[in-house]
Amino acid sequence: MRDSYGRDITYLRLSVTELCNLRCLYCMPEDGVCKKRHEEMLTEDEMIRAVEAAASLGVTKLRITGGEPLVKKNLLSICRRAAAVDGIKELCITTNGTRLAEMAVPLRKAGVSRVNISLDTLDEEKYAYITRHGSLSQALNGLHAALSAGFNQVKINTVLIGGFNDTEIRRLAELTLQYPLDVRFIELMPMPGGGDFGESAYIPCSAVLEALPEAVPRPSNDGVAKLYRLPNAKGDVGMISPVSAHFCGSCNRIRLTADGKLKPCLHSAQELPIKGMNLEEMTEQFKRAIGAKPVRHAELSSHSRSLAGRGMNTIGG
Ligand code: GTP
Ligand code: 5AD
Ligand code: SF4
Repeated sequence: MRDSYGRDITYLRLSVTELCNLRCLYCMPEDGVCKKRHEEMLTEDEMIRAVEAAASLGVTKLRITGGEPLVKKNLLSICRRAAAVDGIKELCITTNGTRLAEMAVPLRKAGVSRVNISLDTLDEEKYAYITRHGSLSQALNGLHAALSAGFNQVKINTVLIGGFNDTEIRRLAELTLQYPLDVRFIELMPMPGGGDFGESAYIPCSAVLEALPEAVPRPSNDGVAKLYRLPNAKGDVGMISPVSAHFCGSCNRIRLTADGKLKPCLHSAQELPIKGMNLEEMTEQFKRAIGAKPVRHAELSSHSRSLAGRGMNTIGG
């Protein structure tokens, strides 16, 4: 379905849980989420119904997000059923990777074709700091499991944070020399509940090109990322610049939160509930949400925070 600005909405991001086994500084507060009541959250049947409603309006790509989707008990069943929905051509997942060592093969078998893994540093201590208690080796084991499980085009997402990992740009990008994967650097977005990073943490993705002068541009059909490649690399280096150069003009997505709210835009507080609805009602609500997509989001910077109205862990990126 086209929105009011002629953008074709073909991509649904479905958050299956707000919970996470990590506590990334830029994403959620230390004491985690105030766990909502079970009755407030979408059931598995409601999630699948929502995917059916979206697919009936032309959505072909589904990405499962969280929180951390791999902590969701019935995740494999959700994936199996979502992959089988008429019209869904691609089922992807975004994960912190810490549970992929056990889950990569089952997810592949459940119909997941692509995996994006969050990894902000290759230093064990810095990893424990940014995730507030995660283990780098667990995430790396997950990454290796994903590479062996036969997913198409594994991608690493690195949130670029001045004073934290800007000195690691080359080291992270050079993973593409070693492995068949893409590494994408994402500008830090000032999200609610995402900690108070100082002005110097917000560095533009152009820092990536400054660190990698030999990288050459690639034709980009990768959605939100601008792509480059190091000589002899097996994958691309991408730059996602929501802060320095918003990509709203080509936005093709709609979001559904684990508590059943359709979000027309990541950086807007507008939400349309679908909890408890039948397929017909949900489809109508999807139409309203797509129709309500704004032309672009408000300015983002260290001093103008996102108007998302909720934390990143409750949206799913
Ligand atoms: P691909 O399907 O592989 O292109 O993945 P993706 O980039 O769509 O999804 P992923 O979950 O890997 O998100 C990567 C980063 O892009 C995250 O930091 C998201 O928050 C951010 N992102 C994704 N969609 C949007 C969007 O519509 N607006 C903004 N500002 N950021 C987005
Ligand atoms: N800014 C940029 N990216 C973020 N992510 C989570 N919070 C932020 C933020 N404040 C990323 C995660 C994950 C993806 C879904 O969103 O690292 O890769
Ligand atoms: Fe968890 Fe992902 Fe948020 Fe980190 S960014 S706390 S891994 S949901």
